[in-house]
Amino acid sequence: MPVHGITPILFCLLHMWRILSSHPQHSLCPMIQRTALCNNCKLSSVPAGLPDNIEELQLNYNHIQTLQDNSLFQYPLLSTLSLACNSIEKIESNTFKDSKLLESLNLANNNLHIGYQETSHALKKLPGLRSLDLSENKLDDEMVATLLQNLTSLEYLNLSGNLLRRLDETSFSDLYQLKELDLQRNILFELDGAFNSNPKLQRLNLAFNDLPCLTDFHMTQLVVLNASHNFIEWFISRQDLNDTFQLETLDLSDNKLLFFPFLPSQSQLRNLYLSHNSVNFYEHLATSPNSTSTVEFYNLKRYMRNVTAQLWNDSLHGDISSLEILDLSVNQLQYFPQGFIHRMPTLSRLRMYMNCLETLNLTSEHFSGSLYELDVSNNRLNQIVADEGTLTTLGNLSYLNLSLNNLDRLSSGLFSSLPSLRSVDLSYNNIDICLPEEAETGTDDISACVDWTNVVSLRQLYLKGCNLERVPLSAFAGLLLTHLELSDNPGLIVQQSRQSLSGTLQHLGLGNTQIQDFDFSDFQSLKSLNISGNSLVEVPPSLLNLDLKLLDLRDNKLSTIPSGQANTLAPKLQTVFLTGNLFNCCQTEWFRTFQTTKTINMVGQSDIECEDLFQTHRVENSQSFMCYDKGEESIFWYILLFVPICLSFVGISIIFLLTFKPEMLQKSIKKKCLKPTSY
Ligand SMILES: *[C@@H]1O[C@H](CO)[C@@H](O)[C@H](O)[C@H]1NC(C)=O
Ligand SMILES: *[C@@H]1O[C@H](CO)[C@@H](O)[C@H](O)[C@H]1NC(C)=O
Ligand SMILES: *[C@@H]1O[C@H](CO)[C@@H](O)[C@H](O)[C@H]1NC(C)=O
Ligand SMILES: *[C@@H]1O[C@H](CO)[C@@H](O)[C@H](O)[C@H]1NC(C)=O
Ligand SMILES: *[C@@H]1O[C@H](CO)[C@@H](O)[C@H](O)[C@H]1NC(C)=O
Ligand SMILES: *[C@@H]1O[C@H](CO)[C@@H](O)[C@H](O)[C@H]1NC(C)=O
Ligand SMILES: *[C@@H]1O[C@H](CO)[C@@H](O)[C@H](O)[C@H]1NC(C)=O
Ligand SMILES: *[C@@H]1O[C@H](CO)[C@@H](O)[C@H](O)[C@H]1NC(C)=O
Ligand SMILES: *[C@@H]1O[C@H](CO)[C@@H](O)[C@H](O)[C@H]1NC(C)=O
Ligand SMILES: *[C@@H]1O[C@H](CO)[C@@H](O)[C@H](O)[C@H]1NC(C)=O
Ligand SMILES: *[C@@H]1O[C@H](CO)[C@@H](O)[C@H](O)[C@H]1NC(C)=O
Repeated sequence: MPVHGITPILFCLLHMWRILSSHPQHSLCPMIQRTALCNNCKLSSVPAGLPDNIEELQLNYNHIQTLQDNSLFQYPLLSTLSLACNSIEKIESNTFKDSKLLESLNLANNNLHIGYQETSHALKKLPGLRSLDLSENKLDDEMVATLLQNLTSLEYLNLSGNLLRRLDETSFSDLYQLKELDLQRNILFELDGAFNSNPKLQRLNLAFNDLPCLTDFHMTQLVVLNASHNFIEWFISRQDLNDTFQLETLDLSDNKLLFFPFLPSQSQLRNLYLSHNSVNFYEHLATSPNSTSTVEFYNLKRYMRNVTAQLWNDSLHGDISSLEILDLSVNQLQYFPQGFIHRMPTLSRLRMYMNCLETLNLTSEHFSGSLYELDVSNNRLNQIVADEGTLTTLGNLSYLNLSLNNLDRLSSGLFSSLPSLRSVDLSYNNIDICLPEEAETGTDDISACVDWTNVVSLRQLYLKGCNLERVPLSAFAGLLLTHLELSDNPGLIVQQSRQSLSGTLQHLGLGNTQIQDFDFSDFQSLKSLNISGNSLVEVPPSLLNLDLKLLDLRDNKLSTIPSGQANTLAPKLQTVFLTGNLFNCCQTEWFRTFQTTKTINMVGQSDIECEDLFQTHRVENSQSFMCYDKGEESIFWYILLFVPICLSFVGISIIFLLTFKPEMLQKSIKKKCLKPTSY
């Protein structure tokens, strides 16, 4: 990264040196073939004296305020001009008079809202302009309409980060050739026939605006539509069109959809992103035949048609037959309508994280053989059902996330019958691991324990927080696991099955399991180990011989790491977690060993604490520790501890006497000092 920061400075220095040494002036900016690179050079105007045959001129990050009429006359062959991140307020109207070849103009991040009118005259002189970036210029609706007049050859236009509120037919009416339009990060709330004059538009980005709905969607030529991060409640495409929509990617994530979008009835949609909405299906609610079944949208303006949609009919969601990715995570889905999944024969990734699914019957849903990833984590599933035949057709299923459900029963053979399964996450369910005899006698279709023996494709298994008590001897026999997560199973007994895992395992999670005296010496491939939260009083010696890169020792009871161990670990480790232990401040050489080893990242280094006799400190602040050599230590501490105690005891006694027994004092004073006289 630093290289990027330094190069412009270097170039500028180079440039100054060249001026000083009176070289020909065209060496002003570094050249790469016909491109002049004058970025970040504190220029306030276009430099004169560059080679007059340049085709590309980069002037980003300078201080240009006005682009003057004569500034480009010298460079008639220019086809690409980039002026992003200056302070340009206007471009004088004859600036481009001779720039007939200019095709690409980048004016991003300037102040064109100030002189947009004159600038628009300048742009009109560019009949061949194909790409224009006007992003981040504080432009409003009217300014944009003015600037874009007559730009009939424009193919790419970036208007992101401006102040557009409303678009209509006139906004882009001259841009017949437009293919890509970026309107993200404006404050758009209405698009009224805005794209009717842009029959070639293929990519449209409307993300991060204030749109309340997209009804009457009929842009059949569009390939990518991104309308994420708006307030869209309805997406309804026009249903009476006979053309096939070219739409391949539709992003409606982070909106307010209550209904699955009403997609075109014929399309090639492959990627549909709907995460972070409130989508559900409702046919089960529409019992009364009198309940309203359509919704109509009245366009407030003129002749526009009313859009109607059948609400409760779950089978009317348009053409989903080409879908490959369907992301429905973080919605309200309780079920899939009948035949819904079956209508997606090429579906490969289904993401349903955080919904309200209660059951999943893989057989009745007819998932297709192309399914690669299925994430139904964080739902309310209590069982997953599938018959043998279904499982063997799911030949591509590799990634299965079932974590955070209420699963207590699974089809037996669920895992062993999936030939490509690589990663299974069953964390935070009530699932047990089958004992050998349970696995064999599992004649039921449904089983309360899971069995992985001989799932040879499996590499990653996550079983966090499953209330596991023991891992049977043969639980992982025949597996070639590289990742095993068993954290958050307090009291887990795992020692026995160690042998069957040892060869291939690279990550082992045993955090918060209360393991003690675990022997890690067989895990020769282990790179990452989590033994946090286990009340360990020492670093298990058996892991010193491993080639660990990551070690999590947080929240244990370590008081020190002996120098020998620290010296062995330091050169190998890349990441170590040590917070949540209360170390002994007087034995912290290990800290300096790790600190001086440049290749280690001690995560939360400044939060690692230790205590000396008086208080806890941050291990970093070693100056403030009260530590002395061993011999002196005990005597010194005794003196230091007892002297104040004795002193204060004496003091307290005196005060006590003075306050509560004054007469005693008087008497004794009298006795001693005022000897009774004998008169
Ligand atoms: C620009 O377009 C307007 C109509 O949109 C037209 O009247 C005018 O002649 C055009 N100007 C140029 C320079 O093409
Ligand atoms: C449009 O400009 C913005 C900001 O300058 C940039 O982040 C975005 O990537 C551009 N869009 C495209 C499609 O290049
Ligand atoms: C849609 O735009 C947002 C914001 O730029 C971006 O984060 C997201 O990845 C885009 N979606 C797709 C499918 O490209
Ligand atoms: C679509 O096709 C049907 C029958 O072929 C026809 O009646 C209808 O008018 C067509 N609609 C459009 C919008 O072209
Ligand atoms: C439903 O509609 C029918 C006729 O359209 C009417 O007779 C009936 O009373 C209605 N039912 C309810 C519950 O409104
Ligand atoms: C739209 O609906 C309104 C109210 O039902 C109706 O008056 C109007 O004629 C409809 N317009 C069209 C074009 O169907
Ligand atoms: C839903 O629409 C489909 C197709 O038009 C139709 O066959 C089905 O009967 C409808 N279902 C309901 C409940 O209206
Ligand atoms: C799952 O679906 C299949 C096929 O529709 C059906 O035969 C089976 O009974 C279902 N299982 C459960 C538990 O609902
Ligand atoms: C499984 O995946 C591979 C590679 O991703 C693909 O070529 C193959 O067509 C898929 N199988 C099915 C049945 O879709
Ligand atoms: C499974 O899903 C949970 C919750 O959605 C997530 O935290 C976890 O990282 C996922 N597991 C894997 C292996 O990606
Ligand atoms: C180690 O396991 C604990 C307990 O599950 C967890 O909180 C922690 O994030 C894990 N450490 C790492 C580095 O993932």
